[in-house]
Amino acid sequence: MRTKIVAGNWKMNLNAGQTQTLLQELISQLPQTSAAVMVAPPFVNLPQALSQLQGLPVEVVAQNMHYADSGAFTGEISADMLVSIGVKTVILGHSERRAYFGEDDGMLAKKVAKAVEKGMKVIFCFGEELPDRYEGRHFEVVQRQLRNALFALPEGAWRQLILAYEPVWAIGTGETASPEQAQEMHAFIREQVAGAYSRPVADAVSILYGGSVKPGNAAEIFSKPDVDGGLIGGASLVATDFLAIVNAF
Ligand code: G3H
Repeated sequence: MRTKIVAGNWKMNLNAGQTQTLLQELISQLPQTSAAVMVAPPFVNLPQALSQLQGLPVEVVAQNMHYADSGAFTGEISADMLVSIGVKTVILGHSERRAYFGEDDGMLAKKVAKAVEKGMKVIFCFGEELPDRYEGRHFEVVQRQLRNALFALPEGAWRQLILAYEPVWAIGTGETASPEQAQEMHAFIREQVAGAYSRPVADAVSILYGGSVKPGNAAEIFSKPDVDGGLIGGASLVATDFLAIVNAF
């Protein structure tokens, strides 16, 4: 039985006061659910989120980290820094990091390896761009992203990995992959993991879908057998929407 997960990626949104307000709203309406619920505020608001959510079943997650232990990397945050304040999970490889900050598969392999070494869980994001899908390269692109960043890891590391398939053309666009497209790709991803490692490893890893998940489409997407939850952007900034998505399981 795989862990079901609904994670909210707040991206570069919400100042300290707005963070406090949204968390209060979430806390006051928190449903009973079998899904693991996570929120990923920007770095500066992590301590506040950890404090407000202490003892509650909502995990606080970071949106990024550097691959080095420490050093002259102005503006960056290390795994040790995150762990030292109580953050146990980090999102890596988001398409916005890849597109705007030059993060490639090689850099992501180093980031994932460092997070795993430090005992962190990783929500690893990947997915094809629109031309890839139009031209029928989407499976090939996803296969390459997985192979280059993840498939050199030892099998034991997979206990710390969560995969998040996010077709770039569906992120923040209002356009969602159809539940059938999501299922088709998630099944393909699971086969790649089975081929590179083993069937038990593939069956155990949670694969989230991300890209314009909303209260109105979450239940149908989550009903697919290889979709184990969602990585939610825009809709995670509105408490009622995010909680409706959590309740879609
Ligand atoms: O990390 C979340 C994804 O980028 C999805 O964002 O729900 O706003 O499309 P979105």
